[in-house]
Amino acid sequence: MKINSLKKIKSLSGKTVFLRVDFNVPIKNGKIENDYRIKAGLETINFLLAKSARLVIASHLGRPKGYESASSLKPVAARLKTLLKRPIKFLSEAVSPKTTAAVKALKPGEIVMLENLRFNAGEYKNDDKFAASLAALADIYVNDAFADCHRAQASVAAMEKYLPSYAGLLVEKEITALNRILKPKKPLVIIIGGAKIETKAPLISKLYSSASQILIGGALANNFFKFQGLEIGKSMVDDDFAPYIRKFYKGKKLVPKIILPRDVVIKTKDGRAQVVAPAAVKASDTILDIGPASISDFAAYIKKANTLVWNGPLGKFEEASFKHGTLALAYLIAARSSGLAYGVVGGGETVAALNLTKMSEYVDWVSTAGGAMLTYLSGGKMPGLSKIVQA
Ligand code: 3PG
Repeated sequence: MKINSLKKIKSLSGKTVFLRVDFNVPIKNGKIENDYRIKAGLETINFLLAKSARLVIASHLGRPKGYESASSLKPVAARLKTLLKRPIKFLSEAVSPKTTAAVKALKPGEIVMLENLRFNAGEYKNDDKFAASLAALADIYVNDAFADCHRAQASVAAMEKYLPSYAGLLVEKEITALNRILKPKKPLVIIIGGAKIETKAPLISKLYSSASQILIGGALANNFFKFQGLEIGKSMVDDDFAPYIRKFYKGKKLVPKIILPRDVVIKTKDGRAQVVAPAAVKASDTILDIGPASISDFAAYIKKANTLVWNGPLGKFEEASFKHGTLALAYLIAARSSGLAYGVVGGGETVAALNLTKMSEYVDWVSTAGGAMLTYLSGGKMPGLSKIVQA
């Protein structure tokens, strides 16, 4: 695989670089709750600044329909300024005569940051005209927004047509890490939870032959239970899950390697947490975690793995009574990843759970991506990588 790395650019001095980052971070009441994605982007920014480039930094935030103040990147620009210890001029429109003038006035080593690209309909539509207007601001395009590379949107996809295009250092690292999952040192053990079977079934299918075990928890497991005809009560389940689940069954039998929880923690109708077998769940119950026997089963597989990949919580870890499955596995995965196995963890909630253990640094690669990681590992389309990465 050939990556058109930013390091291949001969001279950046005085060049204006349009740097697409993914600073889509959680913000509540104007306060950034987690700046991991901003910190992960610093290496590329510092690399470009050290080479005296002029920088136009751009990102999306949330899924706004037109301008919405809650989706402004202003707090992100302020955090970036603090982290970089450099001034950043924030521009309230991505495309406007004022923006063009501010970019023209940039000196080498100076930075402007554009307002949320998704305030423009052209971004969502992967519109050529919008992409060309963004491209007109710069000499070089650098894509460091791995977490958004599965989207066909103007600033990650169409822009590559208009400027010499390169992968940022974070994109390079993400791809290198995920390629180690695609060509794993065996045994490969996959841990998948959360919901959205439509995004996870392709991953299970794609990695099925190389994996030794695929451990399923969270709301994802409920789809399997329901498919088997078990009562799942009020538990979360995906709509229209059957076509995705069916392919993992031969008649009524689940294919080998896919391991479901053999016990679950339910919330009863009077609010108590109780451990039961999946077959004992009642109509008034809600499954909210995997049980202790399942933790023990999963632990045995994790302890033998040479490669580990984890996406999706195993339960509702935000609630004290239902956090044990997710946290126990987070500790185990982090411990096994510290030298014994190559470990990759990705997805917003998954990383939040891992952070609770304070062991994130033991994991070989904590991806900034959720959907993009799943798409890449599943062999799905990555429009943002089409020109900067050649198979
Ligand atoms: C993410 O958070 O997964 C990326 O920033 C992509 O965001 P999106 O799902 O809104 O396109």
